[in-house]
Amino acid sequence: MIEIAPSILSADFTRLGEQIAAAERGGATIIHFDVMDGHFVPNITIGLPVLRSLARATRLPIDAHLMISEPGVYAEQFVEAGAQMVSVHIEADPHIHRTLASIKKKGAKAGIVVNPATSLGAMEEALQYADYVLVMSVNPGFGGQKFIAPTLEKVRRLRRMIEERGLSTRIEIDGGIDPDNIADAAAAGAEIFVAGTSVFGQPDPAAAVRGLLAASAQLV
Ligand code: DX5
Ligand code: ZN
Repeated sequence: MIEIAPSILSADFTRLGEQIAAAERGGATIIHFDVMDGHFVPNITIGLPVLRSLARATRLPIDAHLMISEPGVYAEQFVEAGAQMVSVHIEADPHIHRTLASIKKKGAKAGIVVNPATSLGAMEEALQYADYVLVMSVNPGFGGQKFIAPTLEKVRRLRRMIEERGLSTRIEIDGGIDPDNIADAAAAGAEIFVAGTSVFGQPDPAAAVRGLLAASAQLV
């Protein structure tokens, strides 16, 4: 099942409720929430108070992408604040088995994130504990970056790893997704598409989501 997860990183924060409603009208089914700490990545964004407000403003599930050091210390708080999905970078967490278990215990879906240059081997053992894997197709830290095309091959290999193990893990992809590459990413095996610039960087976010959904269904 194809799902578009607009990233509010590119939204107008003075009109956040309105912008999210527009994305939902266009067919978005998840809201992607980028948390950056200025330590794991060289940028600082939003955190728990904004998440609490957002959770009251939308019925869509909120997908918190934690680009922070020591995610295990904070992950449960993001579930308590209203996230139904919480993902943690394998590069940031030497105890990811424990962190994923703590997210699930609180009642949310737990995801592992891999940076573009991180090998899938680094998360092979952890795969069985995750509900989804987020493959980064840019280096995390900023919206509006260029899609790194070789990450599609990684999505293909990950899809095979999941199938070989008989798992039902979903694959999400994040960074530089637009109408020109979404069909390739879907063909590679991704199901959840994060899109910042190509939704909230557009004059009509509802039309932009509709365009991504239509483009995802094109044959490649
Ligand atoms: C990047 C973030 C992304 C970002 C995507 O570090 O994790 O979610 O908002 O933005 P675009 O779609 O503009 O690449
Ligand atoms: Zn993200």
